[in-house]
Amino acid sequence: MKLNLATRIFAAVLSTAVVVAVAMGVGAHVNLNRDFLGYLNEQAVNRLDLAVPSVTAGYRQHGSWDFLRERPELWYRLLRPLPDDQRVPLAERPPATPTSAELTGASRRFTLLDADRRRIVGFASPASDAVERGIVIDGLTVGWLVLTPIESASSGAEKRFADAQARTGWLVGGAAVLLAAAVALWASRRLLRPVRHVAEATHRLAAGHYDTRVPERAVDDEIGRLAHDFNQLAWTLQRNEEMRREFMADVSHELRTPLGVLHGEIEALEDGVRKLDEQALRSLKSEVGTLHKLVDDLYELSLADVGALSYRKAELDLRDIIDDTVGAFGERLRSSGLALQMELPPGPLPAFGDARRLRQLFANLFENSCRYTEAGGALRLQARREGRQMLIDLHDSAPGVRDEQLPRLFERFFRAEPSRSRRGGGAGLGLSICERIVQAHEGRIEARHSPLGGLWLRVELPALG
Ligand SMILES: Nc1ncnc2c1ncn2[C@@H]1O[C@H](COP(=O)(O)OP(=O)(O)OP(=O)(O)O)[C@@H](O)[C@H]1O
Ligand SMILES: [Mg+2]
Repeated sequence: MKLNLATRIFAAVLSTAVVVAVAMGVGAHVNLNRDFLGYLNEQAVNRLDLAVPSVTAGYRQHGSWDFLRERPELWYRLLRPLPDDQRVPLAERPPATPTSAELTGASRRFTLLDADRRRIVGFASPASDAVERGIVIDGLTVGWLVLTPIESASSGAEKRFADAQARTGWLVGGAAVLLAAAVALWASRRLLRPVRHVAEATHRLAAGHYDTRVPERAVDDEIGRLAHDFNQLAWTLQRNEEMRREFMADVSHELRTPLGVLHGEIEALEDGVRKLDEQALRSLKSEVGTLHKLVDDLYELSLADVGALSYRKAELDLRDIIDDTVGAFGERLRSSGLALQMELPPGPLPAFGDARRLRQLFANLFENSCRYTEAGGALRLQARREGRQMLIDLHDSAPGVRDEQLPRLFERFFRAEPSRSRRGGGAGLGLSICERIVQAHEGRIEARHSPLGGLWLRVELPALG
């Protein structure tokens, strides 16, 4: 049988209440039998001891038990404690003030036996474990006063008391069970409602409805946090799904553009619209080159995503890498009319990394600066060691990017000016790759506005030594 949470909570609270009520009942019963009946019996024994002198005096007065055999109604009068004047005849004795033992009806359980242990008067069937007191006259036992103890609350006051106890017990127990039922019902309704919401929403989320949200509660308890975390999870899934779609759309778009151009050019060559000369070949090669780079970059990023991009790290001097990059871009910079300022400290810049990847990093950054800096501008490269970090800053002059674009530069396919960059051929993957390379070196990369008017990219890499 499948029980839902509400039913289980209900059953748990209810059974606890029932167990407590039963335990209370049993406890009260045991208490009554052991302590309360014990008390009554103790009182009765006291009463028995009190009755012995008056019964002895009764015998002494009459010389035998015959007076009781003839007039049994004198029995209770005889049991009363002896008044100060012992000579007052039995029949004339005033009724004594009832003692507490009298109120519990102790004397009704007294039996008088003669010297041969035959019953004369009193309680009809004395028990075998009865408490006995001998009635001794001049050293001779003339009879026995016997008390039958109460074994269970079965008669008179004890019974009434026990019944009242049981009634109260049932009432309290019943009220506790009802209260427990009400609490369990409330708990299952009120407390579990948000849990049910989350469960239903999870179901919808699992079915791919990423726009599912649950109402968040003002109370910051476990359920409130659960709802909050659920919404966070749903939001993340929704965002990831959107990003996946955007990425697919971007990839196909980026691949289609150069493919389309290629296709058009080849068709023009086929139809004889264009001549197959050196210029046409160069144009074809450039389009193929763009495609090649795009596919390479995508491949590299996907490898980085699955953690399969291999790094061969070794001790190296960042100065060598910077020199190599500057050498490779020298001609580009000159032809773009960009002035390069280098501010490097004297001596080597030791670091631990993959020289090939770091070269790729600097090449991407230099490529961007060449591409996105107006002719006649400047580039400034600074490197210095700060504590355990190696800081490399690359500034360039205008144009820069807008404030809100700064944090987005490292997103895949992000371009500050899509139309402008298209002509330059960038797909918006370069800085994503740079970020991956820096992260693989346990460093950080940040984009800021440069005092030169363009972009400032700061790379932090852990220094060696
Ligand atoms: N030095 C810079 N100055 C101004 N804008 C820049 C600079 N570097 C990058 N950007 C902006 O950031 C965008 C993202 O750069 P990123 O290197 O990631 O891609 P891309 O250069 O467009 O293409 P790819 O590098 O994949 O060929 C660029 O399109 C450009 O708009
Ligand atoms: Mg780039």
